[in-house]
Amino acid sequence: MAFERVGVVGLGTMGAGIAEVFARAGLRVIGVEADAEALARGRGHVERSTGRAVDRGKLNERERAEILGRITLTTSRDDLSDADLVVEAIPEILDYKVALFKDLDRICKPETVLATNTSSLSVTAVATATGRPGRVVGMHFFNPAPVMRLVEVVGTVVTAPDVVSGIADLSARLGKTCVAVGDRAGFVVNRLLLPYLNHAAVLLDLGVAGRDDIDAAMALGAGLPMGPFALLDLIGLDTAYEVMCVLFDETRDRRHAPSPLLRELVTAGLLGRKTGRGFHGEETAHRERDRAEFITFGVEGDDAGPIVEQLLRAGFKTSDEPDVVLRLADRPVIEHAVRLPTPSAMVGVHLVGDRVAEVASTALTSPAAVAAARDLMKVIGRTPVPCKDRAGFVVDALLYPYLNDAVRMHDSGYASIADIDAAMRLGCGYPAGPFEMLESIGLRRVRDGLRALYAEYREPSFAPAPLLDHLVTAGLSAFPRP
Ligand code: CAA
Repeated sequence: MAFERVGVVGLGTMGAGIAEVFARAGLRVIGVEADAEALARGRGHVERSTGRAVDRGKLNERERAEILGRITLTTSRDDLSDADLVVEAIPEILDYKVALFKDLDRICKPETVLATNTSSLSVTAVATATGRPGRVVGMHFFNPAPVMRLVEVVGTVVTAPDVVSGIADLSARLGKTCVAVGDRAGFVVNRLLLPYLNHAAVLLDLGVAGRDDIDAAMALGAGLPMGPFALLDLIGLDTAYEVMCVLFDETRDRRHAPSPLLRELVTAGLLGRKTGRGFHGEETAHRERDRAEFITFGVEGDDAGPIVEQLLRAGFKTSDEPDVVLRLADRPVIEHAVRLPTPSAMVGVHLVGDRVAEVASTALTSPAAVAAARDLMKVIGRTPVPCKDRAGFVVDALLYPYLNDAVRMHDSGYASIADIDAAMRLGCGYPAGPFEMLESIGLRRVRDGLRALYAEYREPSFAPAPLLDHLVTAGLSAFPRP
């Protein structure tokens, strides 16, 4: 299947990025927008993106001019009549997409493949609106399209097999890895990513931790390229909201109901980077408190030795009545606090990776003890993440349900372990796929963490996936792979 002339309809952030990807690979691109103003915005996206590549020495001016020269912009869909492939990247409203595909079906030559970049809508619904359902696929790129190396190719029950393989070959030509999946809400990546992002918004709304602290916990602690709120702002809160609505409609899983905070921001028009403000955007300068010079401390819990040593080396002293008692734990510490003569001094401390320490305050912890614990964690070179004393604190509460969802997805037969791992690594820039993460954290630890989350929140989908539970019971430390 030869694709040389490609149409892209809709030149917002995604559409413009997709047009750039095709043009960079040497294909001729016809970019279509509704009016001259939208067209100018689309051109601006591509010019800025390729301009940045020149500034960074990744392209020279001649290559940039060639890329821009391969993109023709128009407001007339009729200009797509000769295209070999048309990729749609218009807003996520099914009625709009159906109307567009009917139009493309009329305009394009019969052999043209029509692709949708939908994040979550039914590709089958779009395909069956045309007279060529066999030549309609999902071709799902990730934001920023020029950077993220994954394309999910979504085949429906009626897509011709050579169309799926043709789009897979084209993806390779674009320098992307393709994961072929069936038509289920959210496909692989959004089905795993968006519930995690939504859950972060729920924790923020519940006051478990602050915006920047949650972002820092996931970026520095879990090693993800961006924290959840920075990523939501990149994706667009409206897109995230739409995906959650579609997931909820399909699953009726309470966790897939969009967070009220997300809805509020979308209603207020605070959609993230594209409107200049979303979760981030209006920064209030806050002054770092001067560090307390004299803090006495105690440390409790397993493996306290190294922390005690580090703090003593830094000049801090232990005491019988310390200002703060650091309880090392990966579970809530309130039951330990109530056994102390001064429960207000106890703070839970969960060390995450090498760079983060979650600092959990119970209902009894004093502000002075929290402040002291934060200072002490900074002294030992960790970013403190203040949070409430809740199961999983921040990182495990967000990470473990995501890992559990991946196990359920694989167990349902929707996608292989290799495809799920590759999709999350390449689509979201994660340092490891969920199965790789599960195996490096330890299956038992994740299973037990999920049990603790389930016991506290009674959320059915926090219960460990049966496959995970059975592997732990069988004493296995890795997932069987073919
Ligand atoms: N357009 C083009 N290129 C861009 C870009 C953009 N908007 N943003 C960054 N880049 C390029 C930079 O030019 C740079 O390129 P070189 O390495 O060739 O010089 C590279 O990306 C790295 O950029 P930075 O150094 O500025 O920033 P960074 O290292 O912090 O990386 C990031 C930025 C690539 C966005 C990275 O943070 C990341 O991978 N984040 C995760 C993004 C993610 O998860 N995307 C998927 C979202 S889900 C989705 O899109 C699906 C959906 O349907 C909702």
